Amino acid sequence: MPKSVVKRIGVMTSGGDCAGLNAVIRAVVARAVRAYGMEVFGITDGSLGLMCRPLQYQKLDLNACSGTVLRMGGTMLGTTNKGDPFAYPMPDGTSKDRSQDFIDGVKELNLDALLVIGGDGSLGILRRLCRQGDIPMIAIPKTIDNDVPFTESAVGFNSAVRVCVDALDHLQPTAASHHRVMICEMMGRDAGHIALHSGIAGGADVILIPEIPYTLDAVAAKLKQVHEEEGRRHALVVVAEGVAMEDGNSATMKMADGQRRYGGIGHYLSEALSSLMEAETRVTVLGHVQRGGTPSASDRVLASAFGVHAVDLAARGRFGRMVAWRDRGVMDVNIDDIVAVGARQLDPRDPLVHTARGLGTYVGEL
Ligand code: F6P
Repeated sequence: MPKSVVKRIGVMTSGGDCAGLNAVIRAVVARAVRAYGMEVFGITDGSLGLMCRPLQYQKLDLNACSGTVLRMGGTMLGTTNKGDPFAYPMPDGTSKDRSQDFIDGVKELNLDALLVIGGDGSLGILRRLCRQGDIPMIAIPKTIDNDVPFTESAVGFNSAVRVCVDALDHLQPTAASHHRVMICEMMGRDAGHIALHSGIAGGADVILIPEIPYTLDAVAAKLKQVHEEEGRRHALVVVAEGVAMEDGNSATMKMADGQRRYGGIGHYLSEALSSLMEAETRVTVLGHVQRGGTPSASDRVLASAFGVHAVDLAARGRFGRMVAWRDRGVMDVNIDDIVAVGARQLDPRDPLVHTARGLGTYVGEL
């Protein structure tokens, strides 16, 4: 058995869930237990599990390495995208710095290292916590938004795109039958990666993403062109949730907890386009369907490569690293560089923008 500088590791999922998280956990446990004889502790509900007393966690053994776990959507550990330990929401409406509770939790569990599966937001918070508590940390990128910098792909993105393309495959025949314009609103926060990939794979006539401005007149003109040149009275319009309305404001909705989330740009477009053209429109908002379901084959491969590499890094004492995917292989980068750069939006010069335009798709005005 190769030597490892760590004996007890914690693994947690943080931020929004996505398909492929369980496949990462499975790979971490398999590598840690089989190759290094480590003990692995799965932390419940992200940072919350280490802030609770008693601590909330489960010991993970080779039972977590089954084929059932590999296929399962969601996260068997639970997660949260609320409750920042530095500004923890209290019942009286105030917020409190509970970072020390988290740090004490790691000490109480006697962990030598923490493996954190998260997106750019939660990784930033956890990096700060681990720095403050001198906790050795390794990060594994996941998010359907695919906006973590320095990695070509994050776990969950490919599965979300698969859901979106399936949806477009379902929408196209009904659009054609009723001669309608189908508008499909997709997640992605401030980035258009999901919309661009899905729009190309699903044959969209229009793809609107937050990074490239558009005009309603140009969208209407494109749909008119489809009718005149191809004789088609139906079309598919893909819009990312973070796309702004023409006045520059975002379409958002207030949640029960007072937080705002993107939502509504599809219905805005539908109304606006109806006044500019004759075609009948319908709107589909895919929402959290994009986060569920079984992981795609490529997410399972990514999750497995990430999990194994993360444990190897921990065993060699290479902390402060995030595993990443580049040039068809797994490597690792400095977490601080990820945190410094923040969310990776789509570059308007991305070759796939050129591809979409080459197909005749309207992708905005840049
Ligand atoms: O970051 C992942 C994501 O699904 C975004 O695409 C979306 O805007 C957001 O999370 C939704 O968050 P919640 O699950 O809190 O509604």
